Amino acid sequence: MPERVFNFSAGPAVMPLPVLEEAQRDLVALPGVGSSVMELSHRGKTYMDIHADAKARLVSLLNVPDTHEVLFLQGGSRLQFSMIPMNLLKGTDKTADYVLTGSWGKKALEEAVKEGKTNVAWDGKPSNYNNLPSQSDLKLTSDAAYVHITSNETIQGVQFQSEPEVGNVPLVSDLSSDFLSRPVDVSKYGIIYACAQKNAGPAGVTVVIIRKDLMAHASSDLPGYMVYRNHAENDSMWNTPPTFGIYLLGLVCKWLQEEFGSLEKIQAQNEAKAQLLYDAIDQSGGFYTGHAVPEVRSKMNVTFKLGDDQSDKKFLAAANEIGLTQLGGHRSVGGVRASIYNAMPVEGVEKLRDFMLEFKK
Ligand SMILES: Cc1ncc(COP(=O)(O)O)c(C=O)c1O
Repeated sequence: MPERVFNFSAGPAVMPLPVLEEAQRDLVALPGVGSSVMELSHRGKTYMDIHADAKARLVSLLNVPDTHEVLFLQGGSRLQFSMIPMNLLKGTDKTADYVLTGSWGKKALEEAVKEGKTNVAWDGKPSNYNNLPSQSDLKLTSDAAYVHITSNETIQGVQFQSEPEVGNVPLVSDLSSDFLSRPVDVSKYGIIYACAQKNAGPAGVTVVIIRKDLMAHASSDLPGYMVYRNHAENDSMWNTPPTFGIYLLGLVCKWLQEEFGSLEKIQAQNEAKAQLLYDAIDQSGGFYTGHAVPEVRSKMNVTFKLGDDQSDKKFLAAANEIGLTQLGGHRSVGGVRASIYNAMPVEGVEKLRDFMLEFKK
């Protein structure tokens, strides 16, 4: 096995090599500072500059408008499954609409029902979450508290190609597995959120981008950590932030800016990478079958199967031997899942594609 493999993990996932190298170089002592980032007070100037820099880079990459606030939180995306209804639904007589396009949307709903009234606006279960709703399929509530979607379902590999129309109702989207992989018009959203450990850094930091006016009404009996306003008023330092994770997230953003310049550029590379694998599936004469229908296929998580479990196992074992690792599908779906986030090099995807052709032969 080569020293550094091509790691197709769904998350925590591959990080850009220049980011790891810079972090390694400065791990013990930041130049001019003499301490590791991990050892610095979050109230000191060095860390505060790192924090501000990471935030500024995110704002710039995503063109975040002044109407929205960027927060660095903890608790992963799963805490957002609760924080969102706690802040936007609890204590109101409104209903929150959930569009269920896979496992993560379902889990988000499971938390929301504890906080208030919910409505399933669409559920892809009958076709085993291999498709997405058209606009006319959605059973939306008028004057809902918000509509929740999952931009990219990491397990099933289905990805919204554009936002559904929700009128004046705030749109809330879980971007955990396609954050920073393509441009997003933040002004269309009430909240977008993403755990970092796929495209933005290590596990432990979660980015929330929230429209400022939505922070006004949180139910007054919430624990302090759960109130978005507390984090916004304290520049994400209401409690000690995950400083090392935020530092790495800043380095990932710097890498994107220096390597690609814009999210349009990384999107083009991501589309080309995904196409290599989908072509191999489509041209395999049925040897490989994709899970998602072609129109909604994810550019981040390519899910497919061979004929039976034994063949899947053989495929995964042989791939692993040549340094193509962590390709096993999620236990609920099985088969193969190639997660090809921003930091997966084109050569890694080409090597996997070549292996797929070879294995079929
Ligand atoms: C789309 C999506 N949402 C939510 C989560 C949960 O994130 P966390 O484990 O950081 O809470 C994941 C994790 O894989 C995910 O892929």
